[in-house]
Amino acid sequence: DLGPYRHFMQKEIHEQPRAIADTLEGALQGPFSLQDLWGQDARERLAHVERVLFLASGTSHYASLVGRQWVETIAGIPAHAELGHEYRYRDSIPNPNQLIVTLSQSGETLDTWEALRRAKDLGHEETLSICNVAESAIPRASALRFITRAGPEIGVASTKAFTTQLVALYLLALSLAILRGRLDDVSLAQHLEHLRELPGGVQQALNLEPQIQLWAQRFADKDHALFLGRGLHYPIALEGALKLKEISYIHAEAYPAGELKHGPLALVDQHMPVVVIAPNDRLLEKLAANMQEVRARGGELYVFADLDSHFEAAAGIHVIRLPRHAGLLSPVLHAIPVQLLAYHAALVKGTDVDRPRNLAKAVTVE
Ligand code: M6R
Repeated sequence: DLGPYRHFMQKEIHEQPRAIADTLEGALQGPFSLQDLWGQDARERLAHVERVLFLASGTSHYASLVGRQWVETIAGIPAHAELGHEYRYRDSIPNPNQLIVTLSQSGETLDTWEALRRAKDLGHEETLSICNVAESAIPRASALRFITRAGPEIGVASTKAFTTQLVALYLLALSLAILRGRLDDVSLAQHLEHLRELPGGVQQALNLEPQIQLWAQRFADKDHALFLGRGLHYPIALEGALKLKEISYIHAEAYPAGELKHGPLALVDQHMPVVVIAPNDRLLEKLAANMQEVRARGGELYVFADLDSHFEAAAGIHVIRLPRHAGLLSPVLHAIPVQLLAYHAALVKGTDVDRPRNLAKAVTVE
């Protein structure tokens, strides 16, 4: 049932405050319990983890690129993320203390499932799956699991599954930090408070839709777009580019902004819109310098900034401000406007938003 919405994707974008709140319910009500979050013997299985390897595909892989950084920052454990279809065919060095974390909305993605099988064949026993479908192959084949509560996702372009995966990954980073003795009760309470504020922040980001819709009209006649981000927000740039490609068929590429001068800057001229994910984090000044490089070549900038940032709109620089800076959780808020941008660009182009050409919701073939 679409209710007041035109497409499932639009409905699912707008369901995110609810989806995130539901996913957080188990963690925020009552004491923080590893067993309740991840399953029986979670404490024993996670206690020896000295390295984390995330395996996933597509949007789920981009979530893991954020999660990887949270695990290193919050828990102090080395973490890596790989595409399942790459991992399964390459030689890799097994490590019995490595936790294998698979992420999948559907739980049926063959590339991810085969990667999990490969990891198990290599001797990895500690496996954990973050999935949106409880009765699916990947969580069933994992020792520990977390089921996100996004509800059924019908649109081929993943939206609410992505942000709820991020929430689960943040909880994983907190759990590993607790086991390592890196998080006292006061710090844990602060992290949980920030998570509690997340649905409200996401709703405020959704309220920017009319402004983003205006931007989308300018995108619809473009053939190419660049997305830039740094650090925690580079994966959000990747996600924004993938969303735009998938449903509006506009060719879009994402780069960590520091990479511009190593090649992609050659593409920039007045016909190239450049979307910048520019939250108020410690990389902002570096990012501002990258933006100047774009402006100097005539590229038009579309900047998603935070409320209290110093960016001002000017000729060739468009700025939309998110409600506030959400610290480490900022990628969750910044995911929303890039979803809306892709959705509205697709509407202008008149594509089949929920069923884009050549794509399937669950990719169960190689
Ligand atoms: O169900 P999964 O999360 O395993 O799916 C992985 C990818 O196929 C999926 O995220 C795909 O990239 C989406 N269509 C992106 O919007």
